[in-house]
Amino acid sequence: MTDMPPKKSRKTGDSESGDLLPPDDVLFGRSAAMQGLRERAEKVCGTNISVFLTGDAGTGKEVLARWIHQHSPARHGAFVKVNCAAIPGALLESELFGYEKGAFTGALISKPGRVELAVNGTLFLDDIADLDLSLQSKLLQFLQDGHFSRIGGETERGVETRLICASKKDLEQEIATGRFRADLYYRINVVCLRLPRLHKRREDIPVLAEYFRKQYENEFRKESAPLAPEMLHYLRNLDWPGNLRELSNGIARYVLIGPETAIISEPSKRGTSAAPASRDETSAVPLKRIAKEAILNMERAVILETLRANQWNRRKTAQSLKISYRALIYKIRNAGLTRGRSEPDMASPANLASHSSAN
Ligand SMILES: Nc1ncnc2c1ncn2[C@@H]1O[C@H](COP(=O)(O)OP(=O)(O)OP(=O)(O)O)[C@@H](O)[C@H]1O
Ligand SMILES: [Mg+2]
Repeated sequence: MTDMPPKKSRKTGDSESGDLLPPDDVLFGRSAAMQGLRERAEKVCGTNISVFLTGDAGTGKEVLARWIHQHSPARHGAFVKVNCAAIPGALLESELFGYEKGAFTGALISKPGRVELAVNGTLFLDDIADLDLSLQSKLLQFLQDGHFSRIGGETERGVETRLICASKKDLEQEIATGRFRADLYYRINVVCLRLPRLHKRREDIPVLAEYFRKQYENEFRKESAPLAPEMLHYLRNLDWPGNLRELSNGIARYVLIGPETAIISEPSKRGTSAAPASRDETSAVPLKRIAKEAILNMERAVILETLRANQWNRRKTAQSLKISYRALIYKIRNAGLTRGRSEPDMASPANLASHSSAN
């Protein structure tokens, strides 16, 4: 492995467009779910109609928003992202619509809002469900006639922009509980594109994993070995509650720290279909959990290597590792270790039972 000085992050800033997007064959992959989505997305590109992107966290809503921008007439303008969940309500209004000098204490100069910055471009309102009700009214007014005024401003301003909104929350449910205006929903949701969860597009996982690996090699200036076929096979079968973000983060760990098993995080290993952790939960990782995960990952890597060295003969592997056969079977099952695609899945419960006396 070659270590090189770290390179600037590949993450794009808020108002940058999608020049760092994955190539189309990676972005859409080959799965039926994504092919259908691509067809619909291509149809909206030639128009300026409002698009609503929905899907669980980490499924690629922002990536698709940038792709649509790049392929639509709005690409000549800026791609301006506003994260409605990240900016507190009071600030969000001035962020979106701007303010005039003297509009409030501290408004020493006039400032255009993001709506104005998105003129002839794309305004991407992410996590729109978190927009508070008073701002929903102001946004609705703007969407109805393209006019708004800055905070503290007298003049009405007109802006032409393409609107893309995204939400991981179910907006119809938000409407039912009174947290979202139905009229705004119908205005933003002219065409709805639903991003599939990663486990609904398993066949795309190997291509995505390889794409992320190359990206992180480039970002960290560090080489890594291509993933073994059995690892790719294993990754295809995980549940991925955190979707593409979880896979991407796992590959980052692998490229930076290794081993291959570092790709697998606890939620996926459990194979639950539990709701993905929120961004805050994923960023605040307790040290104890990291240490436990690191130990488990190392253990998995050692077991996998020893199994391979012993042609997956589990009795010999248990002897080499100086643990009981039963303990090894338990660990294999717990770590979800499987053989390559061409070989029988020795870790599946059925095989473990039928092979338990074979090796
Ligand atoms: N189709 C794709 N091809 C390659 N990488 C992708 C694709 N979709 C998403 N990614 C990567 O997965 C990660 C999550 O994507 P993105 O931020 O677009 O998800 P999201 O749906 O907006 O998530 P959230 O709801 O949490 O904001 C990013 O690192 C992104 O680069
Ligand atoms: Mg997003």
